[in-house]
Amino acid sequence: MAKPVRATQVELDNAVQALRAGEVVAFPTETVYGLGANAQHEAAVAKIFALKGRPASHPLIVHLDSARYLHRWAREVPEAAQKLAARFWPGPLTLVLPRASNVLDLITGGQDTVAVRVPAHPMAQQLLTAFGGGIAAPSANRYGHVSPTRADHVRDEFGDALGVVLDGGECKLGLESTIVACVGDSVRMLRPGQITLSQLRREVGEVHSGAAEDSPRVPGSTLAHYAPATPLRLVEGGQIERLAAELSAAGQRVGVLAQRPPVGTYRHVTWVNAGTRVEAFGHDLYTHLRALDKAGASCLLVQEVPADERWDAVRDRLSRAAASTGELAVPEASS
Ligand code: TXA
Ligand code: MG
Repeated sequence: MAKPVRATQVELDNAVQALRAGEVVAFPTETVYGLGANAQHEAAVAKIFALKGRPASHPLIVHLDSARYLHRWAREVPEAAQKLAARFWPGPLTLVLPRASNVLDLITGGQDTVAVRVPAHPMAQQLLTAFGGGIAAPSANRYGHVSPTRADHVRDEFGDALGVVLDGGECKLGLESTIVACVGDSVRMLRPGQITLSQLRREVGEVHSGAAEDSPRVPGSTLAHYAPATPLRLVEGGQIERLAAELSAAGQRVGVLAQRPPVGTYRHVTWVNAGTRVEAFGHDLYTHLRALDKAGASCLLVQEVPADERWDAVRDRLSRAAASTGELAVPEASS
């Protein structure tokens, strides 16, 4: 049976009490699980960084139950941001806005902006409403690891180091939110997510994409991110099975994440067919990477995904994962 997506009163009271006491609480959102703390409590926020092993210069997202108290966090909400919030909140959109003066430097990384999101997951909404304030939360994984999309992923990451983990079942989307910076007249997508560039443009017209010279820092945009422990390589669809077969024949354990089943069978290959539907692929991506990571393979071969913009978020996470796991000792596909 699927996990209920709402918390019981006891679970909720427990989580709120922990937040009020300055403790860290993991909770589900529709994107990935978050590692939350009272955003106005410096020592509590510091615990997030300590738990994750995240450098203090990397800013966090403040989660709110709605836009009604947005002005407490952002001193200015440009028109484009208002339109985007009205269209996509609650949902998988994070807005980076000029910060209000009382926002902790630890949350903003000392920058002049703050990232804010109103998540749609019913349990996140329950928690935010019951707590009544902002919850600062990065994804609930150790720094640089794959984000968790299930409560047991969070437990795998932190074990007993984390007291409260609200279990809201599997995250509906499975990939982190789209991040859009709205500062002055400029609108820039800093991280792709389920909400695409075209959807953003439909609401507000011109939207830049990628980091600008002077744009705010997004650690998720550094290469060492979203990575499984096993070296990962992106391989063209037409090459992946032959390469896996060659490695297997040479006695290497190989994990494969493809969009179709294999034609043959190979002794040392763990083959995952993630299908060709982008929603399902994104939903399962981190679960597959975690599972393949545990398969004891010496490398993961991941089939390149389509160039279509709907795959931007998946492609973004995969290319970072490939870039951050270093060189692979696998033969080049001979064509
Ligand atoms: O879907 C999500 O966004 C999930 C859930 C838990 O809400 N959260 C998440 O948090 O992915 P995290 O910390 O793993 O990634 C948030 C990104 C980071 O790359 C961070 O640098 C960026 O948001 N960020 C936070 N504040 C920022 C700011 N002021 N300017 C630019 N980027 C910022
Ligand atoms: Mg993260």
